[in-house]
Amino acid sequence: MDKQLQEILNEAEVKVKQIKDKQTLIQVSALFLGKNGALSGLMKNLKNLSNEEKRVLGEQLNTLRDSLNKLFKDKENEIDDAILNEKLSKEKVDVTIPVTPSPYGTMHPIEILKKDLIDYFIERGFELKDGTDIETDYYCFEALNVPKEHPAREMQDTFYIDNETVLRTHTSAMQVRTMESQQPPIKMISTGNAYRIDEVDATHSPIFGQLEILVVDKNVTLADLIGTLEGVVKYLLGEKTELRVRPSYFPFTEPSIEADATCPKCGGKGCALCKETGYIELLGAGMVHPRVLEMSGIDSNIYKGFAAGIGLDRLAMIKYGVSDLRDLYENDINLLKQFK
Ligand code: DAH
Repeated sequence: MDKQLQEILNEAEVKVKQIKDKQTLIQVSALFLGKNGALSGLMKNLKNLSNEEKRVLGEQLNTLRDSLNKLFKDKENEIDDAILNEKLSKEKVDVTIPVTPSPYGTMHPIEILKKDLIDYFIERGFELKDGTDIETDYYCFEALNVPKEHPAREMQDTFYIDNETVLRTHTSAMQVRTMESQQPPIKMISTGNAYRIDEVDATHSPIFGQLEILVVDKNVTLADLIGTLEGVVKYLLGEKTELRVRPSYFPFTEPSIEADATCPKCGGKGCALCKETGYIELLGAGMVHPRVLEMSGIDSNIYKGFAAGIGLDRLAMIKYGVSDLRDLYENDINLLKQFK
């Protein structure tokens, strides 16, 4: 290559060596390859030369242009690599840094209670049935011996979705669904939310948890029901707890009872928790009405059944000494984390 051209290339190489960023690279490359750069200056001179000189110099200028292009391109790649490497080293994950554990949540007290109850019954051979919160009028009322216009419907103010669909007012609907789908012997529990139009206060909520118990077999008696309830109440509230049974009325049971437990706080003497009565209301129960058995396809001459519905929220309040139901629903972490 011509000496002058070689010098240009040398000069470019020296300059490029010192470049560290793209901005400077662009500026320097313009000095050599730009419109007013060294190379185009030389090109302009070509027109004053003879044809032979043009050919020789022209070829050399092409070589120079290729070398310069390569020089700048290599530098550009070098800068890109450097940027990428720096980024990679900064974003590198250091797996040796100790982890800050995120705080664990705890189970909600009503869920703990539900789980305890499910375990209790499963151990005793009961089957757990899953129901749905949205239920038909038929399963919620009709098939439980509560026909339309029956005054007992007023015991349960209801969220209707349409004429035939409701947010279930109790888990008792699952009794019918179970009996329709299998013949006795039946030992089932079902648990979940129930809904009723209710003002929210310290002991009421429009959404509440229930546990339904159903046993259907030959020779099932009221004594079996009371024995079962006694067992579960002692399990939940302590061995010293006693059960009190009172006559009651539910359209789907005959006879019907309500059961109370001696107050776990005062043991029956009377205190603020039990409103000085010594007892806490816990559940409704009874012997499954023969009509309900028949409507579900079970022969009431051969089989008898008992059923019960336990309110879980009230039970949680009693068991955990929570005096206002709303506290259980307000997501106060300080309160909830006490239950493990
Ligand atoms: N379903 C009733 C309620 O929510 C409670 C109940 C009473 C359930 C008697 C039963 C029963 O299974 O036999 O008020």
